[in-house]
This record gives sequence, C-alpha cells and structure tokens, in this order.
Amino acid sequence: MTHKIVKMFISSSFVVALYLKLLHIFLRLDDFARRALKRKPVLHYLELHAASHCNLNCKGCFHFSNLVKTNDFPDVKQYARDLSRLGRLYENIKNIRLLGGEPLLNPELPMLIRQTRKAFPRANIHVVSNGILYKKLEGELLEAVNACGVTIHISLYKPMAGRTGELKQHFKARKIRYGISGLILNFANYINTKGDSIPSSVIRQCPASRCTFLHSGHIARCPLPFTIGHFSKSISMKDEWINIHEEGLDGFALNKTLRKPMACCRYCRKLEWFDWEMGREA
Ligand SMILES: C[S@@+](CC[C@H](N)C(=O)[O-])C[C@H]1O[C@@H](n2cnc3c(N)ncnc32)[C@H](O)[C@@H]1O
Ligand code: SF4
Repeated sequence: MTHKIVKMFISSSFVVALYLKLLHIFLRLDDFARRALKRKPVLHYLELHAASHCNLNCKGCFHFSNLVKTNDFPDVKQYARDLSRLGRLYENIKNIRLLGGEPLLNPELPMLIRQTRKAFPRANIHVVSNGILYKKLEGELLEAVNACGVTIHISLYKPMAGRTGELKQHFKARKIRYGISGLILNFANYINTKGDSIPSSVIRQCPASRCTFLHSGHIARCPLPFTIGHFSKSISMKDEWINIHEEGLDGFALNKTLRKPMACCRYCRKLEWFDWEMGREA
C-alpha cells in the first residue's frame, strides 16, 4: 500500500514539483534561521552503502547493485573519519540510511552502526534491507541495532513475500524496531543513456532530491556519481563529488551545493515503471 502511494506520488509531475519546491524553501529557511542563531546547520538526509553488492539481483536497481560482481564493503576507518568530519560540520543529520546493496552482507555492520550513532546521537538511523539475511540480526549485530536505536526497514520482494510472519516474529522476539514495506511489484527506470537531459529541468522532478550520498570521503546530492561506474565504464561523474575533508568547508555552503543540479543530472529522466523482476540488467 505504502509503495503504491509513493509510486502514485512520484508519478505525478505536479505533486513532485510542488513538494520539492516546498521542501527547498523549508531547507533554505532552516539554514537561514540557524545561521542567524549562530548554530551549526542540519543535514536532513544521508545515505551510505554498508555493501555495494547484493544477494538479490533486482533488474534496474537504482544503485546498480545487481551489477556489482565482487564483494564491496566500505573501509571502517575511513567511514569513522567521514562520520566524525560530518559531525563537526553539522549539528545533526536527521535521517541516516545505511543501505546498499545489501547491508546485512557486511560482517562489520555493527561497527558502522556504532560509529554512526557516536557521530550523530540524535539522528534517526535506519538499515534498509531486502530481509533475506534477517537471521543475521543476532549477537553483536542485534546488540548494536538495539543499543543504537536503529530501525530495520525491509523492502519486501517476491522471494520473501510469503515470509513476513517469520520476519515479524524474529523482530518482535528481539525487540527490534522494524518496518516492512508492501510487496514491491514495480520498479522504475530513470536513466537517460544519451545524457541529453537538461539538469535544471530534470531536477524539478528528481525523486532523489533527498538522497544525499556519502562514500569514501566524498559526498554528492545523489548516489549516481558513485554508482554509475557499475552501469557504464564510459561515463565518469567524479567531478560531482565534494571532498568533505577539504579545508575551510562549512556545512551551510555544503548544503547549498548539495541542493544545486549536478552536470550528471543530464543522465536522468522522468521515472518509467516496469514490473519488478530479477535479472542482471540495468
Ligand atoms: C537500493 S535498495 C538497497 C537496500 C536493500 N537492498 C533493499 O532493496 O531494500 C534501497 C531502496 O531503493 C529501492 N529501489 C531500488 N531500485 C529501485 C527501482 N529501480 N525502482 C524503485 N525503487 C527502487 C528499493 O526498493 C529499496 O527500498
Ligand atoms: S535487493 Fe534489489 S534493490 Fe536492493 S540493493 Fe539488491 S538488487 Fe538493489
């Protein structure tokens, strides 16, 4: 049901444009007020990969994780440095989503969770998973999830469709905060391989407007600059990354940059929906 509403919502150009406009105004006002009050800015949303590869190969995966052939985990020390740097730039990050790929594939997930909580004591932290490896939520990982107040979000695909009872039982018995989506029957394609879209125009409809993505010391307004390499070796978007460790960087300026269109937005277009299926194709 939720997925259907989200799909209806992002399929309506007018509603998306209006929502994004209002969000943009709110974020600018928030920055303005914080600067006036001599407080640090807030980043409203951040995504990170706990693993870039996956144990399910959804055709058209937004992050191209279905195309990642080798194990690809973040470096834990780099992750800690990055989060602590963002902790100095921002008063808080409201919502942090650890995803991938499939985050439950990463044996170091407990450490990533604890580092995230240490840097942002007040953030809503979510782990987004396809649920196949839910039994890994035991021991050290379970302790980290519960001690750090993490919510586990399950995207429900066909392979787990008949197993929601099991999932709920596991989570409830272990006092894990969780959410399970409705069965996901459709996926969307947003790539314009010709690269001839007009960034200032596509951005008005961009469903990734709140997908700020951090990877290995660099941040961008969406995951595309970091993930496109899995889709096409000939497209490079490295110019779109911002080095968060650059001297003199401040959170307000970073927020402003992250709201602007990127040159790589020319590879995006309006979403086109298709039936969810498995397959190692973009
Ligand atoms: C990239 S996945 C990673 C986390 C985890 N593997 C999962 O599937 O939930 C994060 C979210 O993006 C959604 N997603 C990925 N590709 C999509 C697509 N082509 N269309 C719509 N939603 C997509 C997934 O359903 C999921 O909720
Ligand atoms: S489960 Fe599907 S959507 Fe999620 S990362 Fe894997 S391939 Fe992508």
